[in-house]
Amino acid sequence: MHALGKYPHKRMRRMRHDEFSRRLMRETLLTPADLIYPVFVLDGNNRSEQVASMPGVIRQTLDKLLHQAEECVKLGIPALAIFPVIDLPLKSLDAAEAYNPEGLVPRVVRALKQRFPELGIITDIALDPYTIHGQDGLIDSNGYVLNDETVAVLVKQALTHAEAGADVVAPSDMMDGRIGAIRNALDSQNHIHTRILAYSAKYASSFYGPFRDAVGSSANLGAGNKYTYQMDPANSDEALWEVGLDLEEGADMVMIKPGMPYLDIVRRIKDTYQAPTFVYQVSGEYAMLKAAAQNGWLNEKACVLEALLGFKRAGADGILTYFALDAANWLMESKME
Ligand code: PBG
Repeated sequence: MHALGKYPHKRMRRMRHDEFSRRLMRETLLTPADLIYPVFVLDGNNRSEQVASMPGVIRQTLDKLLHQAEECVKLGIPALAIFPVIDLPLKSLDAAEAYNPEGLVPRVVRALKQRFPELGIITDIALDPYTIHGQDGLIDSNGYVLNDETVAVLVKQALTHAEAGADVVAPSDMMDGRIGAIRNALDSQNHIHTRILAYSAKYASSFYGPFRDAVGSSANLGAGNKYTYQMDPANSDEALWEVGLDLEEGADMVMIKPGMPYLDIVRRIKDTYQAPTFVYQVSGEYAMLKAAAQNGWLNEKACVLEALLGFKRAGADGILTYFALDAANWLMESKME
């Protein structure tokens, strides 16, 4: 009970008055330990290229990537996610390069694990870098992506990566049943510690455009789309269903992708399953923030840290972000202040 008087009964602003009390009531904490750094790797030596639609992001060869990996270790970023740029002659209809033990990804994984054994290495399980049509799987004569035939190849790809020393395999393809099939195969080959990060709620999003430029799959994909396997952005219950299946099949961690337009999905999934939940701030989200910052329209550091904090507040345990190095540097700086 309170009297309706001249003064507000409760002054919410009292706690906001000073930095000490703002800090005391702060609920969500963002640290470098929340970040996963996605990187694009090229074959060869001493080469790097700018990704035009992602200013500040490069494709680079292993020798150069080692420097960034070292920086991640220094900054306390727990893991790298590797995305290969596959040379055109190695792309095919059957995506056989995806499970070549001497392919780019296994070589990069071995080198990284040897140099930085404590840095977590996550590999992408999907066929789009390896197919000439840029789809995430094998197709039939109508261009339809075949489920079970694709899963058989994904299993080989996951085994190849695990054998090379990948700590986490991350199927980003959205085929049905792939998590169970991969878990089974890994266990049968004694890779019982290889974790699976399932892209469980992966939407058919237009925010992936710059990524497809980065890995060079957009030209191959052309006017094609991924509507028959990635999720409809209109759906939310379906995301819970997908996550439930992936956890049942043996996923250790689940992911929602993209990030910012899907914060409601992050919250629902975390509340429903309490499983380790990750979110991908995708290439298009990076491009938007970067473009606005470059035009002087947004304060880059403040807006990026606010967006990342928002993911954690929504329930994410960690975030894949192309801003990982910058964000970790900013977080360390502000700790020193
Ligand atoms: C494909 C894959 C995509 C991304 C990660 N893995 C694109 C797609 O599904 O076409 C997108 C990541 C990003 O946009 O940053 N397996």
